[in-house]
Amino acid sequence: MYFLGIDSSTTATKALLMDSTGQVLAVAAAEYSFETPRPLWSEQHPNLWWEGTQKSIRAVLTKAGVSGDQVAGIGLTGQMHGLVLLDEAGQVLRPAILWNDQRTQAQCDEIHRMIGKELFIQITGNVALTGFTAPKILWVKDNEPEIYAKVRHILLPKDYVRYRLTNSFAMDKADGAGTVLFDIKSRTWSPQILHALRIDPVWMPPVYEGPQITGYISPEAAAATGLKAGIPVMAGGGDQAAQAVGVGAVQEGIVALTLGTSGVVFATANDAFIEPQGRLHSFCHAVPGKWHLMGVMLSAAGSLRWYRDTFAPGLGFDELLASAAEIAAGSDGLLFLPYLTGERTPHPDPLARGAFVGLTVRHGMAHCTRAVLEGVAFGLKDSFELMKSSGLGKITQVRVSGGGAKSALWRQILADIFDCELVTLNTTEGAAYGAALLAAVGAGVFKDVESACAAAITVTGSTLPVAERVKAYEKVYPIYRELYPALTSSFKRIHSLALP
Ligand code: XUL
Repeated sequence: MYFLGIDSSTTATKALLMDSTGQVLAVAAAEYSFETPRPLWSEQHPNLWWEGTQKSIRAVLTKAGVSGDQVAGIGLTGQMHGLVLLDEAGQVLRPAILWNDQRTQAQCDEIHRMIGKELFIQITGNVALTGFTAPKILWVKDNEPEIYAKVRHILLPKDYVRYRLTNSFAMDKADGAGTVLFDIKSRTWSPQILHALRIDPVWMPPVYEGPQITGYISPEAAAATGLKAGIPVMAGGGDQAAQAVGVGAVQEGIVALTLGTSGVVFATANDAFIEPQGRLHSFCHAVPGKWHLMGVMLSAAGSLRWYRDTFAPGLGFDELLASAAEIAAGSDGLLFLPYLTGERTPHPDPLARGAFVGLTVRHGMAHCTRAVLEGVAFGLKDSFELMKSSGLGKITQVRVSGGGAKSALWRQILADIFDCELVTLNTTEGAAYGAALLAAVGAGVFKDVESACAAAITVTGSTLPVAERVKAYEKVYPIYRELYPALTSSFKRIHSLALP
């Protein structure tokens, strides 16, 4: 019996095939890119995810030598918050507006004005932020009324893939909460928020817990993917919740630290725990009946990728990072702000910009590289500190994962800057693996998500902080903290230059 996890991320769709013990047999990915047609905009056509899904499923089955009719269940995951609009016939109305799009500040302000910020936080668990889905819906209403008039279905990226696989409209509760149209406590659409924003409730799909069955592979999808018609497709979860399942962050006390394009500090909660000022996101978990708190940095490993592609194109990450290991903690006074696509936590500011601060003629490429690694770690520490002071309870373990966590140097920098042990795991496939585990739970292989994680995921390594570097970073972190407030008004004025 085999299970598939499919992750439609911002940069690729990945299919992972797992057996019923949780052993990964093969992984295949189909890459694509996203468009930034205007400053602050970030879009992607939903067809890319569907093409990527077909290609990666076929490739993973071939790689593993498994035939499509041996798959017993499929779990879906993907980038959160992206707005997919369909018409009556199920046709895509415009490119999806993605999680890292920053155009909707006016609509966020409008939502807070219409509903009242405090009430909005009480109901949804969050403030309205530009990345979330609700303000994007209002943006289309305000700016593209002819498109808005045709809207009949609102989906998130992985749920468009679900629609193409099963012909059914459905969403998991973790991703649903990320639209901020949810009542966080009752784990479903909030009639009050939908009514206030004049969003027709019939446009919103039914919502399901992560392991629940949402539909079955259709004959057309079977022909397109090599799967068998009738295989159940489980709800799965938004990528952060599925990632947390994939690393076993499914009980209070265990924090997942993820270094993907975005960087995330994630903690499970047994109740709908709301940070009173909405500084941390509060969403439903993909674990039935659980919630989570989360701080999100928009450009984490994304900062390093940008830096490499811009200043050292063609150089491998290993080579790039080797020279940074030679530089002392603190990069000899060079600091980097990672706000390359604006920021969310702890500075919810679409106009925030990246910066190198403290450059002198004594700094070279290796200093800059190390400063990027350290700047991302300082930014994630901001979320970690918020998490520690949120009242959620003691953090007993930090599990690190994501592409960036493959670097021993970056893990060490994070351990030193957080002043805390980080552990690594036997699984490195993150969200796609979490989605496959959710499918296996849905098929009855495991009793629940917690026991699936306990059976399949083990700690394999540990990175401990080194006292001398902890001390060095304690002197630099307060300077890092001063930089965003010091530069905020300059960022605004730079934006008002209205560059192309
Ligand atoms: C989470 C978020 C990002 C995307 C990345 O709130 O916006 O982590 O899900 O895919």
